[in-house]
Amino acid sequence: MGDPATKSDPPFEVVPTGAAVGAEIRGLDVRTLDDATFLALRQEWLTHKVLLFRGQSMSDDDLVAFSKRFGPLDLAPASATDNVGSQEKSRPDIWIISNVVEDGKPIGALGSDEAEWHTDMSYVDQPPMASVLYSLEIPPSGGDTSFANMVTALDALPDDLRAKIEGRIANHDSSYTSVGELRAGAEPVTDVTKAPGARHPIIRTHPESGEKALYLGRRSNGWIVDMDRAENEALLDALWAHCADPRFSWTHQWRKGDLLIWDNRSLNHKREAFDPKSRRVMHRCQIKGDTPA
Ligand code: OGA
Ligand code: MN
Repeated sequence: MGDPATKSDPPFEVVPTGAAVGAEIRGLDVRTLDDATFLALRQEWLTHKVLLFRGQSMSDDDLVAFSKRFGPLDLAPASATDNVGSQEKSRPDIWIISNVVEDGKPIGALGSDEAEWHTDMSYVDQPPMASVLYSLEIPPSGGDTSFANMVTALDALPDDLRAKIEGRIANHDSSYTSVGELRAGAEPVTDVTKAPGARHPIIRTHPESGEKALYLGRRSNGWIVDMDRAENEALLDALWAHCADPRFSWTHQWRKGDLLIWDNRSLNHKREAFDPKSRRVMHRCQIKGDTPA
């Protein structure tokens, strides 16, 4: 019965969240994975789209080494806090997400406000396929991160809405971060039809699983190419309202030492606000290699 004797079960436990996405992986120190374990893990990641590992203990080198097993790393994105504080001293492949201010300068990006639903860096032609986020300091409450499954959201999209986006391309604005700050060097957007960024199909096919997913980037300054501005706003509002339905999502409450890896090709995520007086420090790597199509 079961597997042939030559094939042993992977040395970890998979505990699905029970929501539309996500699973916790138990029993692993991600610093010490052999190749067979990593391959089994990668398969679980494709299935569940976001994996959680609790109780990890990782240096930046460990985070980079784990992330690189999935593929070459991308550089951290531009943010409003570029070239200030210790961000400029950090490694180019690690993005610091933090509200902490030292010597009057933020040490990282995104502050303590809510970060709107988005997928990472879709405003470039080749966005990161995955993001890996590790928590070093976590506030006593708030700052939860939610993930929404854009495959099930597309499956459940009403026919009339689907007909309006079939075959369409959207522009993904590059000017603002997910907390609405203007990125260093960007100009305010006054006309979405002229926003800078990248263009991708709204319905895309996952290159590994073959699943079709909605690929919307983020709401602010989104534009369905060649669409009239009023019609664009109404259609994007309807699509985003649909995607925000809690039946598509799972919310993660962070503890220090949590590591998440998620698939930017099939998920959106958002972060809720937290008390600006508390400290939250996260380090992120981003894995290259997506060409939305
Ligand atoms: C990210 C992001 C969410 C968070 O890492 O891409 O959006 O929880 N951060 O800070
Ligand atoms: Mn993000």
